[in-house]
Amino acid sequence: MSDLIDLSSDTCTRPSAAMLAAMANAKVGDESKGRDPSVTALCERVANLLGQQAAMFLPSGTMCNTIAAMVHCTPGSEVIAAQSSHVEASESGAIAAFARARLVTVPTTDGTFAPQDIERLMHPSKGTRAPQVSGIFAEQTHNRCGGSAWDEDQLMKLGKFARINDIAFHIDGARIMNAAIALNVEPAAFGRHADSVWMSFTKGLGCPVGSVLAGSKAFVEAAWEWKFRFGGGMRQAGVLAAACLYALDHNVERLAEDHANAAVLAMRLAKIDGVELLWPEPGTNMVFFDITKPQTNTDALTQRLAKRGIRFGIEGPLRFRAVTHLDVSTSDMGTVAEALAQELAR
Ligand SMILES: Cc1ncc(COP(=O)(O)O)c(C=O)c1O
Repeated sequence: MSDLIDLSSDTCTRPSAAMLAAMANAKVGDESKGRDPSVTALCERVANLLGQQAAMFLPSGTMCNTIAAMVHCTPGSEVIAAQSSHVEASESGAIAAFARARLVTVPTTDGTFAPQDIERLMHPSKGTRAPQVSGIFAEQTHNRCGGSAWDEDQLMKLGKFARINDIAFHIDGARIMNAAIALNVEPAAFGRHADSVWMSFTKGLGCPVGSVLAGSKAFVEAAWEWKFRFGGGMRQAGVLAAACLYALDHNVERLAEDHANAAVLAMRLAKIDGVELLWPEPGTNMVFFDITKPQTNTDALTQRLAKRGIRFGIEGPLRFRAVTHLDVSTSDMGTVAEALAQELAR
């Protein structure tokens, strides 16, 4: 473990010794031919967890979102997603570049939206020259809205609306396990309402590589074609799948600790003069805050904190994000808050 308290993201975790041992002992085969037993076991397990028929192993969440768009969306159509969602802000325009569909975003303060919000954005019915909506993308949890979680009812309503309107419903489940733990439900409670849904193993679950995209058998069959086209077919990927299987056994329940640490950090930061929390009560593992002390320079503050072994994510001028994960402790929360208070008091 490094001395750095790195709160920039939950993607910065290192595989533990026990996870590395599981990887070293993995049973492997040729993944691209469906012959890797560890990948097969992982996909079966995740499909079941997410309430779907089948699943495929992919290197990244971005590839999951992009492949889902390739399967679901027709060129010239529209995809509805929340404002500031990962597909809008952080995937280099992949949906536009590859699926040639236009992203239309719903204004939101908590990352969620309802069928009425979509209706307001939809054009008149089919048969006109207006583009039609082919996909609805929800993000569980919504990263840039403070890691807020959708509840099952909200996702069920979107799923129903999508089915009635012949639109595909996709869930970017980068942190679906955080949501499941926070709301004390099985991840299938969210996943079963979608036509496709994925979960990441490289965020709170602490693995070095891997996401699993799930859906109906027909969806996954179609997705395999895009996986090959994007060069996502792998060979002895069981070494990676073994880390994911290890994480499912050991790193899911403990996400509650990350949520508790985020709550502790938020409480400590709220007491500091010159700090304003965007969402004072974090629902999962993220704390977003603005520095309101006049004449503070973000770069200089970041450098001073780095010298003290602390790193936040930078979300904008004077806006930071702190994400808790398995490589930071409750006592680190106190250290971080104290250091920030001291730097702002200088
Ligand atoms: C909400 C969300 N979706 C998608 C992704 C993309 O995942 P990956 O980095 O594995 O491509 C991320 C990554 O942080 C994310 O936070």
